Amino acid sequence: MTTIDLTGQTAFVTGSTRGIGLAIARQLHQAGARVAIVGRDQARAQSVAGELGERTIGVACDVADADQVDAAIVAAEAALGPITVLVNNAGLTRDNLLIRLSDADWDQVLDANLKGAFHTMRAVARGMMKRRQGRIINITSVVGIMGNKGQANYAASKAGLIGLTKAVAQEYASRNVLVNCVAPGFIETDMTAALPPEASAALLSAIPLGRFGRPDEIAGAVLFLASDLARYITGHVLVVDGGMAM
Ligand code: NAI
Repeated sequence: MTTIDLTGQTAFVTGSTRGIGLAIARQLHQAGARVAIVGRDQARAQSVAGELGERTIGVACDVADADQVDAAIVAAEAALGPITVLVNNAGLTRDNLLIRLSDADWDQVLDANLKGAFHTMRAVARGMMKRRQGRIINITSVVGIMGNKGQANYAASKAGLIGLTKAVAQEYASRNVLVNCVAPGFIETDMTAALPPEASAALLSAIPLGRFGRPDEIAGAVLFLASDLARYITGHVLVVDGGMAM
C-alpha cells in the first residue's frame, strides 16, 4: 500500500483555525509535515496549533494585507523551516444580488479570496523556486466554474483564483513548483451553516452522491496534491463535489 509521508515538509495553511482549513492542517500534520496554523486571531491560531501538538506554530495575518502576510511567513519559516507546501484556504462570502452588491462587499471578498492568494504565493515563490521544490494548493469553488446567483463577487474571486493558479503553474513548472486548485462543492462548515433550509434542500437535490461533503474530504484531495503521488500534476482543478458540477 502506498502511504503519504510528508515528513520534512513545512506547510502554511491560511484560514486554518476552523472548517476546511483546520481539516487540511490536521491531515498534513498527521502525514508528518510541520504546519503553520494561520488565522486572523493570534491567540486562536496558537491555541489550535497547541491542540495539534509538536511541529506546529500559530501565526496571525489578514491575507488581504501584504505586509502582514510577509511577516507571518517570516515567523513561520523561522520556527519551522522553509515553506514547501502553501495552501490558500482563507476565504469569505458577502452574498447579494448584483444590483445590491456594494463596493465594500466586492472589495472584501476579492481582497481575501483572490488578492490574499496572490500575496502568499508571491511571498513563498522565490524560496520554492530556488530550492526547486514546492506545492501550492488553492482552494477555489465549483461556484468559480459554474457561477451562482447572489454570489457574483465570490464567483469572480474563485474564477480568478483558477486563472491565477494556471498562470503561476506555467511560470514555475520548470522549477518543480506545482500549483493546483481544489474546487469543493457544498461542504458542511460555518460558511454554509447559515443557508436557509429550502436552499439546502435544493442544493442537496443537485448532488448525485446525495449528501453534502465533509471538510476531511477536501483535506484528502489537498493531501494528495501535496504528496509525491501528484508529482506530475500542475495547473489542474480537482473538483471534489459529490458529482454536482459534472
Ligand atoms: P469558514 O468560514 O469556516 O473558514 C474560513 C476561514 O478563513 C476562517 O478561519 C476565516 O477566519 C478565514 N479568513 C477569512 N478571511 C480571511 C482573511 N482576510 N485573512 C485570513 N483569514 C481569513 O469557511 P470554510 O467553509 O471552511 O471555507 C474554507 C475555504 O473553502 C474558503 O476559501 C471557501 O471559499 C472554500 N469553499 C468552501 C465551501 C463550502 O461549502 N464550505 C465550498 C467551496 C469552497
